[in-house]
Amino acid sequence: MKSLLIQEGRFIDPGQGLDTVANMLITEGIIVRLGKGDLAPESDCDVIQAKGLVVCPGFIDLHCHLREPGFEAKETIATGTMAAARGGFTTVFCMPNTAPPLDDIKAIESVQAKARTEGVIRVLPVGCITKGRQGKEVTPMGVLGSTGVFAFSDDGSPVLNARLMRQALEWSWTNDLLVIDHCEDTALTAGGVINAGKISQELGLPGMPAAAEEIMVARDIKLAEKTGGRVHIAHVSTAGSVELIRQGKARGVLVTAEVTPHHLTLTEEKVKECGTQAKVNPPLRTAEDIKALIQGFKDGVIDIIATDHAPHTEADKQGDFARAAFGISGLETAFGSLMGLVHGGQLTLTKLIAGLTSGPAKIIGNRYGRLGTLATGAPADITIFDPDKEWQVNPGDFASKGKNTPWAGATLTGKVMATIFAGKIVYKDASIVVNPK
Ligand code: DOR
Repeated sequence: MKSLLIQEGRFIDPGQGLDTVANMLITEGIIVRLGKGDLAPESDCDVIQAKGLVVCPGFIDLHCHLREPGFEAKETIATGTMAAARGGFTTVFCMPNTAPPLDDIKAIESVQAKARTEGVIRVLPVGCITKGRQGKEVTPMGVLGSTGVFAFSDDGSPVLNARLMRQALEWSWTNDLLVIDHCEDTALTAGGVINAGKISQELGLPGMPAAAEEIMVARDIKLAEKTGGRVHIAHVSTAGSVELIRQGKARGVLVTAEVTPHHLTLTEEKVKECGTQAKVNPPLRTAEDIKALIQGFKDGVIDIIATDHAPHTEADKQGDFARAAFGISGLETAFGSLMGLVHGGQLTLTKLIAGLTSGPAKIIGNRYGRLGTLATGAPADITIFDPDKEWQVNPGDFASKGKNTPWAGATLTGKVMATIFAGKIVYKDASIVVNPK
């Protein structure tokens, strides 16, 4: 494998407090040197000129849907990982709401095998909390953990039975695993299609109240406190949830949380403009919620940003609000949409990068090697982006099969220019030239 030299980039690694213009040498898939001088090795190597570009650790997504097995019309491991690479991601955790669901060793190993042969980046399957995602019996989490699975979730559905959630959290404690929690009291959201509030009243659509999320956040923080287990709250969308997590962390509960790019940037108003393309669960909320989510992320109450990439076919998103599927295809717009917060002065670039790199790496630990870092000796998982490049979102250009996005036609400022996984360029913008040295 040829060495790769990245020259004159602005290297930002929030985990190391690094922000410097330098050169980086990658050999055999590993970061071997980062420095100011001439790092070119004796033998030939490829060179990427990164002047004016930011070079950071490859993004890590703790929450996406690759749909395989079972829903290959929506996405496959091949298309989903290409979409991830285009979005700057080098590691993704894929959710187990597949058919069959990932609730036994065979199903998990088959995704792991397919990811090795067809994926262009690292894919880490999430296991089900309950068998068949039926909410009746907890899976043998410890046994599934022995296949390399770290995180468990019934995402798409909550675990309604508190006794089962308590058991899952006890097992997360005994086996050093993570429970990723889709918080939704479905008795309160039944029939709901958008946020319960001003817009649902105006449009006469059934709403999903903030309390439906917050009740479950409160319950599961309490259960994590009682058991010592690790709960990670998925797609936090309300100001009330941020407050509950803040209080839980202050008491020392092992709770972490994620927020999606769409919940950080779009309000419920978007459904008036985009219709079912803005139908997502949890729903887009209010400007006050966004304010609390951004503040929560800045304060460290919300640890990371995760896409909840939920690709669907065109047919799945058609029809009225009651019929259309929940979900946004988010891997390819995540970074560009989030850069709007940086350009708007609401987030620093370093904090944004931390939410996509060192933040998730801290939750994962070292079980898959050193991720989310530019440290020498770490795998060369790297994202190169232009913070100021404007581009227009055209879902027709997505690598994802899911063209479902409320960002269609929008102009975003900030674009991923190249993604390197284990030293190999897995995506590059047409303007990036690789020259031999
Ligand atoms: O909008 C969503 N779509 N939210 C979820 O929790 C599940 C996801 C999906 O699988 O489509």
